[in-house]
Amino acid sequence: MTHDKHNNYLEQLNVHGYLRNHLNTQKLPSFRVLTYFENLQNLRLFAHYISAVMSAAPPTATTAPRTWTRPNSEFFISNDPSLLSIKAVNEAFAQDFLYWGKPFPEEVLHQMLHSSMSFGVYKDRQAQSVCEPFAPTAESAEQIGLARMVTDGTTFGYLSDVYVLPEYQGHGLGRWLMNCVSEVFSKENMPYLRRIMLLTGDKRMQEFYAKVFGMQVIAHERRPDIGQDLVFMCARPNAKS
Ligand SMILES: CC(C)(COP(=O)(O)OP(=O)(O)OC[C@H]1O[C@@H](n2cnc3c(N)ncnc32)[C@H](O)[C@@H]1OP(=O)(O)O)[C@@H](O)C(=O)NCCC(=O)NCCS
Repeated sequence: MTHDKHNNYLEQLNVHGYLRNHLNTQKLPSFRVLTYFENLQNLRLFAHYISAVMSAAPPTATTAPRTWTRPNSEFFISNDPSLLSIKAVNEAFAQDFLYWGKPFPEEVLHQMLHSSMSFGVYKDRQAQSVCEPFAPTAESAEQIGLARMVTDGTTFGYLSDVYVLPEYQGHGLGRWLMNCVSEVFSKENMPYLRRIMLLTGDKRMQEFYAKVFGMQVIAHERRPDIGQDLVFMCARPNAKS
């Protein structure tokens, strides 16, 4: 890669944004940043991230973290991993409306969310309406929803753990969330995308996924253990016919 290309690539991976957000969440005054990195654990975390970034192959799709806002709204959607709240997601998993989930040990949930492309739905704690330019931090963002795409970031995605908290449902946030996911997992953005798949037990959701992603039911799974049969749905955005 040329120097310029490599710089663009790092920019796309948002290394600086990641670092800035991470430091913001630590609430460090600037003179303490060096001391922070003297802590071996913190240093290791960053060394790991940077080395993963440097050794990664150039992307074949645009998967850099993005944030979506809409006019006159305090809500926003982002796939920036530094905004995710393990606590908020685990509290949602503890509720009955997430019929498939239960809370996980924190390190397990951390790995689930950070090894996938996770889209959070957030409410800004500071503003009645967010406006551009907008640089949310984990501190100012209250997580109220999630969609998790298990993916290699280029050819395949398995959509899971889609929810909006009950008190925020029915106002179009779920549809907006799916539109953001489908923007990233579209044939324009991912020219090598082969399949997106998901499992659902909800009839209304089947129609919803069919509309947003062009998903079709391809198989059924009998699940007497949860008292509900599930369907496998699949879309092939780049299929010729
Ligand atoms: C599904 C869910 C994320 C939708 O979020 P939302 O913000 O309420 O959705 P919207 O207001 O944007 O509505 C979008 C679509 O979601 C579907 N939907 C909305 N509420 C729903 C509900 N309670 N149950 C099933 N589907 C619902 C509808 O198809 C709706 O489309 P329509 O308006 O054309 O009928 C939300 O209802 C939820 O978290 N449900 C519980 C968890 C769940 O079932 N997740 C999906 C597992 S496959």
